[in-house]
Amino acid sequence: MTAMDLASRARQILRDNDQGGYTIPTAGLYPYQWNWDSVFVSMGFATFDSDRAWREIETLFQAQWPDGMVPHIVFRVDEPSYFPGPGVWQAEKGPLPSSGISQPPVAATAVLALAEHDLERARPLLPKLDAWHRWYHAARDPDGLGIIAVTHPWESGRDNLPDWDAPGDAIDVSKVGDYTRRDTALVDAEMRPKKKDYDRYLALVQFGRDCGWDQHHIAANNPFFVADVGITAILLRAERDLARLAQKLGAPTDAIEARIARMEAGFDRLWNAEAGAYCSLDLRSGQHAEAATAASFLAPYAGIAQRKAAVVDLLGAFAEHVTYMVPSFDPRSSHFDHQRYWRGPVWAMVNWMIAKGLAEHGEDAWAARIRTDTARLIGTSGFAEYFSPVTGEGLGGGTFSWTSAIWLAWNLDEIMEGAV
Ligand code: GLC
Repeated sequence: MTAMDLASRARQILRDNDQGGYTIPTAGLYPYQWNWDSVFVSMGFATFDSDRAWREIETLFQAQWPDGMVPHIVFRVDEPSYFPGPGVWQAEKGPLPSSGISQPPVAATAVLALAEHDLERARPLLPKLDAWHRWYHAARDPDGLGIIAVTHPWESGRDNLPDWDAPGDAIDVSKVGDYTRRDTALVDAEMRPKKKDYDRYLALVQFGRDCGWDQHHIAANNPFFVADVGITAILLRAERDLARLAQKLGAPTDAIEARIARMEAGFDRLWNAEAGAYCSLDLRSGQHAEAATAASFLAPYAGIAQRKAAVVDLLGAFAEHVTYMVPSFDPRSSHFDHQRYWRGPVWAMVNWMIAKGLAEHGEDAWAARIRTDTARLIGTSGFAEYFSPVTGEGLGGGTFSWTSAIWLAWNLDEIMEGAV
């Protein structure tokens, strides 16, 4: 396909996955609205339909809970083929049926970009974004450490990352019972989380459900409470973008600045000297994850520059072991699996965030390399959910919304045009 064909294909995928105001990640596998998927989708729509770009984020915020949380899935329709659906979550605290956990808060970053062309439309979103960020600090950093925990691997958006293996040992799965997964009926089981992981996912949903999604109880007692590099970096970035937005709108920024300062001071708690990388930190055991992940490269995106040389060295170390950057997990580790979801594959939207941060910190060559690799992967293997960093094969679901959106938002045509 030529670059032009790819761009029109990407737009077509977004149109096809559009349910009228919100977009599903892909038909079949993910039939609802997912939080950070919608935000990346909005960045794609912004290149050809700005009203639709705003709508995507506005509909996401329609599901915001009174406490500020924006849920990770919004169950707008009844889709009995999906598991675990609203009946399993029983999270009835918001205005729409939803899950009871959140996902990486990328939205403020997308809204700031949209506001360049229509500042007034951002105004009603400002207090909503602010409430969500405050919720993250209160519910996921109750001790004010400046690093943000996830209470479920799904909350991180990086479901089966090896980082969650050791902390997950503390989860009691004895009451999970029998269930039928839907994902492995639709996608090769080799590309999906294992049963052991899935049992843990469901046990954590049961824990939240049993306490009525009481966030204080969850922060204090959930068997899984792990400070995540991805969420922390993305929130810190989003806070900076929120402060810029507030400033443009003439709103006060002091409270946002105070949160930024706390996170800047806390970020180094994620540094694992032995691994030479920012790694997640199990707040129950005090142990760091033992290896780097793609999120270790999000420090520049978060505006954290003090260990930039080490971050760049680590990129070089990863690049020696794969053909396509950036693998989701350290390719030098024995847990690396180039086909299995978050244990190795490349994800286009993660690449976009990493490269944006690197470019902002003068690492233009690395930013260009990552952008080119992303274009080659999609150009060769299509709009897949994720890609093997070893073979370049497209994996998981096809006709994927966020992969299409990144093609458009990152203007990857430019790279393909150079290549053909
Ligand atoms: C998977 C991914 C998650 C994503 C969702 C929908 O659960 O791990 O990040 O939001 O699918 O695409």
